[in-house]
Amino acid sequence: MPPLPEVFSFMEKVLEKRREAGTLRSLRPMELMDGGRVRMGDRVLVNFSGNDYLGLSRDPHILKRGEEFARHFGAGATASRLVCGNLSCTEAVEKKIAGMKGFESALIMASGYQANLSLLAALCDRKTLIFSDRLNHNSLIQGARLSGGKIIRFRHNDLSHLEKLLCDAPEETRKCIVTESVFSMDGDVPDLEGLTRLAEIHKALLLVDEAHATGVFGDQGMGLVKPGMAHAVVGTFGKGAGVFGAYVAGPALLKDYLVNEMGGFVFSTALPPSVMGMVDASLDRMAEMDAERKHLAALGDQLRHGLQYLDFYTGASCTQIVPVMVGDTKKALALSAHLEKEGFLGVAIRPPTVPEGESRIRISLCALHSKEDVEGLIRAFSTFVHIQT
Ligand SMILES: Cc1ncc(COP(=O)(O)O)c(C=O)c1O
Repeated sequence: MPPLPEVFSFMEKVLEKRREAGTLRSLRPMELMDGGRVRMGDRVLVNFSGNDYLGLSRDPHILKRGEEFARHFGAGATASRLVCGNLSCTEAVEKKIAGMKGFESALIMASGYQANLSLLAALCDRKTLIFSDRLNHNSLIQGARLSGGKIIRFRHNDLSHLEKLLCDAPEETRKCIVTESVFSMDGDVPDLEGLTRLAEIHKALLLVDEAHATGVFGDQGMGLVKPGMAHAVVGTFGKGAGVFGAYVAGPALLKDYLVNEMGGFVFSTALPPSVMGMVDASLDRMAEMDAERKHLAALGDQLRHGLQYLDFYTGASCTQIVPVMVGDTKKALALSAHLEKEGFLGVAIRPPTVPEGESRIRISLCALHSKEDVEGLIRAFSTFVHIQT
């Protein structure tokens, strides 16, 4: 390879800095397998890092409907929805989502990231005050930035702080409160009823991201936000639904507005029919998986109990996401490597994904895991403690 031109040199510096701080990321090849397992090289590990919470990513009904839709409707949508990509299968899936969620309308988006980015940019303008939970996902932060609105961060899940900030804001200014219903890196939940109340009192728009609640909580697995609670909800299909894609749900007026004003919708090719077919089947499967949701909740309790007994701190987690707080980045990497040696994939999450000094192992559970899998994982954490002491 010839030497790279000088214009690339800043990249080397950035990567070197990351290497020194232990925050350099790199891609590793892997194959997802049945039973919540993953093959990495010649080893099969129990996968405690994926978001396939119900184990639907390899579900035969879902795969079959994807094939059927592809055969019937074609490989791609060929254009954006507003041009000639508005296929009947996409409209039907949107109706199904809205019905299951109990909202007037739903609009399918390519991904949760794209949905959050373009939704916030469409809902907020330069004069809007955006009240954003301090631990909101990067896509929500970037969306708020893109809108040009003024971002006011409130302490994580602290409604008295949010209330104070709302009271300090001029009454006539447009306001938007943004939060997640299950926090991606902490596995805790906000007081959604309290947020609804504050939004009502202060005439603020309430936007809730249900990425990690979809499939796992609520009626038919459709998340924690009930009709009447938030003005706009984002749900994703790449995690608990096991497929790909996202939706925005809200009143019909919101959908009409977004179809006209949301760049990420207007200027992007519609999702392919195979994905629509798989999402359609996944919604059917999600609706009937109460037993799996119960099992997942029990695994979460078992894991938190075992870890806390070993003196690991798991924050306010009360869901299928259990952070094991380590603090130091290099120690988190050492713990992750130890788990891998013991047969478990538990990836270390480091800054800037989490705040500085809050590196952790983010354990995410899957309904395909057994009690014995979780017992084995707890044992692996305990042997790490023994090596350290
Ligand atoms: C809270 C939250 N919102 C949105 C996204 C993005 O969703 P997607 O993976 O569908 O782009 C993620 C992804 O990790 C997330 O954790």
